Amino acid sequence: MNFSDSEIVASILGDSGYDRVVEASAADIVLVNTCSIREHAEERVRKRLHQFSALKKKRPGLVIGLLGCMAERTKTALMEEEQILDLIAGPDSYRHLPQLLEEAGSGRQAIDTMLSADETYADIRPVRLGSNGVSAFISIMRGCENHCSYCVVPSTRGQERSRDAVSIVGETADLFRQGYREVTLLGQNVNSYAWSAGGKVMSFPELIGQVAEVSPLMRVRFATSHPKDMSEDLLRTIAAYPNICRAIHLPVQSGSNRMLDRMNRKYTREAYLERIRAIREIIPGCAISTDIIAGFCDETEDDHRDTLSLMEQAGFDSAFMFKYSERPLTLAAETLNDNVPAEVKERRLREIIALQQRLSLASNRRDIGKSFEALIEGTSKRSDDHYSGRNSRNKVAVFPKAKDGPGSYVIVKISGATSATLLGEVV
Ligand code: 5AD
Ligand code: SF4
Repeated sequence: MNFSDSEIVASILGDSGYDRVVEASAADIVLVNTCSIREHAEERVRKRLHQFSALKKKRPGLVIGLLGCMAERTKTALMEEEQILDLIAGPDSYRHLPQLLEEAGSGRQAIDTMLSADETYADIRPVRLGSNGVSAFISIMRGCENHCSYCVVPSTRGQERSRDAVSIVGETADLFRQGYREVTLLGQNVNSYAWSAGGKVMSFPELIGQVAEVSPLMRVRFATSHPKDMSEDLLRTIAAYPNICRAIHLPVQSGSNRMLDRMNRKYTREAYLERIRAIREIIPGCAISTDIIAGFCDETEDDHRDTLSLMEQAGFDSAFMFKYSERPLTLAAETLNDNVPAEVKERRLREIIALQQRLSLASNRRDIGKSFEALIEGTSKRSDDHYSGRNSRNKVAVFPKAKDGPGSYVIVKISGATSATLLGEVV
């Protein structure tokens, strides 16, 4: 999400005549795009700001700005704490950046953290930053109204709103013409996408169908889905289009009903497992990944064991796993006790990670001997003689370079696996 915001900012500033430079040391303006979702993310931003303060001492005219969720969350307070900041802009204020930069350049503090009910940056064609030229993200919604009790997003990114479908399909077609072969449609909860035009409301299944029709050679992915909104209609749409990838990210957060209730997730363990069953029935072979939080408020050993057993039952192919960190102004911060000791959170997280490594390895080992279509993304990070690419199930395969290069589809026969990667060769 954040990455996609940086691409929007690059486009707005490019249109106003600003150029990008590779090294911060060569810049007249440094903008730091921030995430507040976990405490750790904010700590990293502060470290980064301290690095830039050395730069500013050398070049007093340097303008330093903070963008995104942390800007929204802390507003003027951070400007008082971090004296080096000249500019603060929340996630719905990027169109005002050219004016804000002018203000900051003339020595005034520039702040805009107004949230909007309708800003989607629909008309802005993002500048693809650090792109491999093969896969790109397309933001289709902004904000979130689910109010999961641990989550800061509803307060930093505001009301949920859906972007004009015509602009999404148009952006996909443009990317295809430029040689891209994979798009990921992004939103906090893509399943509640609803765009009204001409008296009709377009739903996510309709949208993804239209995006998939841009070309059978364009792969389509999406993230993130909320289990409570994952409809059969969507599963049937995925099944109907071979170019919609067989990989669903379905954050469960916990396997305990008591925790799910405290987290305000609005589904039960049983309902979640029923969604998994539906995915496996309607899209056989679909990969399923998840997010898990260890050590949420009042979590007992029994609750933790429920998470481990759900992971086994669901058989996740991969997972993002976190220990709970209390975020200011969330429902949990205001009404619940962050009472699981740090070392218990850490131990539970270690157990969750160890189990997931075992599940990921088992999932990857089952692929040994099979052949998959992989979209080549580029040279492998580990070896110049190998390419890396993904299959439809979002698994990364590494294989010796043959005649086809990035952006091509090749069939790879899998001969080995680690918990993170498949190894093979083009056949
Ligand atoms: N503490 C730990 N993890 C969190 N997440 C969101 N908020 C918190 C928090 N306060 C995790 C959830 C979410 C993912 C994007 O980040 O698992 O799905
Ligand atoms: Fe946060 Fe829940 Fe919204 Fe995801 S769905 S962004 S976890 S409030």
